[in-house]
Amino acid sequence: MSAGRDMYRQQILDHYKNPRNYGELDDPTFSHVGENPLCGDEIRVEVKLDEDDETIEYAAFTGDGCAISQASASMLTDELRGLTLKELAALDREDVTDLLGVDVSPMRVKCAVLSEKVAQDGAAIYEGEKEVDVTKTE
Ligand code: FES
Repeated sequence: MSAGRDMYRQQILDHYKNPRNYGELDDPTFSHVGENPLCGDEIRVEVKLDEDDETIEYAAFTGDGCAISQASASMLTDELRGLTLKELAALDREDVTDLLGVDVSPMRVKCAVLSEKVAQDGAAIYEGEKEVDVTKTE
């Protein structure tokens, strides 16, 4: 294993053990939940928008899952701060796997992208572009 990869693994473990932005916001602008249908793990993402109703001021998450899903939710909620809803909608799975810094096997991709999909669907529902009760990663 290369030193670089090892560093990323340490980072994933650190985010898993000490998740950033874990918890509920007092007054989220929107909040949405999703699950990984392969394992049943659920994550809720909450977002507080700035006064412009477009820029993400804070994002937080709650829920259970494996190290990959928890670490990616922790890293993603950090990354979301300052992004616009358009920029959030434009994120793809590579953006999340880049954050994680490791090759994610096809089976674990659903874990990695869970929080991203939940945040994107939550924003789309908020903007009236989508109707979905619970996001499921595909
Ligand atoms: Fe459930 Fe990864 S195994 S989210």
